Amino acid sequence: MSLITALHPFPFYYEMQKERPVYFDPEYTLNWGHKGVWQVFQYQDVKRILSDYETFSSEGAPKVEGSPLSIGITQTDPPRHTFLRKIISKAFLPSVVKKLEPWIRQQSEELLDQALAAGEMEFMEEFAIPIPVRVITRLMGIPNQDYMQVYEWANLIIQNPAEVEGGVEGFFRAQQEQTVFFKTLIEERKQNLQDDLISHLIRAEVDGEKLGEDDLVSFCMVLLLAGNETTTNLLGNAVFTFTEHPEIQEHLIQNPEDIPKAIEEVLRYRSPVQNLFRVATKDVEIGGQTIKKGDYVVAWLGSANHDSTVFPDPDKFDIHRENHKAISFGHGIHYCVGAPLARLEAKVALEVLFSKVKEIQLKPGAAIRRNPSTMMYGLLNLPIVFQSQ
Ligand code: HEM
Repeated sequence: MSLITALHPFPFYYEMQKERPVYFDPEYTLNWGHKGVWQVFQYQDVKRILSDYETFSSEGAPKVEGSPLSIGITQTDPPRHTFLRKIISKAFLPSVVKKLEPWIRQQSEELLDQALAAGEMEFMEEFAIPIPVRVITRLMGIPNQDYMQVYEWANLIIQNPAEVEGGVEGFFRAQQEQTVFFKTLIEERKQNLQDDLISHLIRAEVDGEKLGEDDLVSFCMVLLLAGNETTTNLLGNAVFTFTEHPEIQEHLIQNPEDIPKAIEEVLRYRSPVQNLFRVATKDVEIGGQTIKKGDYVVAWLGSANHDSTVFPDPDKFDIHRENHKAISFGHGIHYCVGAPLARLEAKVALEVLFSKVKEIQLKPGAAIRRNPSTMMYGLLNLPIVFQSQ
């Protein structure tokens, strides 16, 4: 396993911050196959890249015919991005998110109750994966009987095409099938608007302009992709980190009001999104290196969140530390739209967890495996044992 996808990649980040804070890596490959990028590891540089969208564009990935994702909000710059962002802000209302809380609680209880008697569970499969899928599909208004199919498509799309069965063909087929599915659902909603996210996206209007059909489909796919694996990883990373700190479990059982603080520290310590890429629109100097127009830049959020100039003693997991400067949800105009939802899901899930179980430990003898993606910090498995409260 490479250093960067190790369970504890932090010493590698510390070394890079010191020895090679900005360097050109000819081998690093972006997921559509582009090879060779600038790697950037220090907090101030990473933040600058995310702030300066005119110099560091989000439109670096090729626009592919038949791929609604490639016209999605994450891959656009202003002025188009400004329009899409205003639309999603109108549709993704805090009140809509807040209303989900009792339902998330009930789902979390249901999933945990199934495992309580056994005293053990595969946390990723039985909890961290299903919760976000159920929440995002419910929020969007995807019918219950369809949600696993939609999830499987999302999974096919998120994988590196080079590494999955079906390869690039499977990647595009999943997008095509999903496009047909969402077009039908959008048509149905247009006839009969509801109180769900898809209906709100159809209704939303900015300066007299509404989303066209392709943009509606694209938003549906982006929301599914952006909202699932990231939140799954946050839940998994939280429980994994708590197994390393039994004293914090004890503290959170006694002081559940500190759960949001613990979540913020997990987001900093094991950031679900480890890096973001951009493309330079002009020649620019950063960290003493000249980045040429057209060069790709990979900004390491996971490393920035471990920069000792901003977070003293960064390798220490400390739920009481000052960590509001962490950039786990990005920074600037593309700052995560779903951050309040992700925080709510994690808060409710952990409140339920610590109200029902204690002494969570890794199952003896189990080998924890990290997803080999360098872009995400997520676990492939997390077998745990625990006591009921
Ligand atoms: C712990 C969970 C999550 C993490 C760590 C996370 C992280 C991020 C990051 C780092 C970005 C910035 C991307 C960039 O600058 O290129 C982002 C953007 C975004 N996220 Fe999240 N996210 C999470 C959950 C969610 C959820 C639950 C949703 C929706 C249901 C969501 C929807 C989005 C969208 C739509 C964008 C694009 C915003 C834009 O381009 O203006 N995210 N997220």
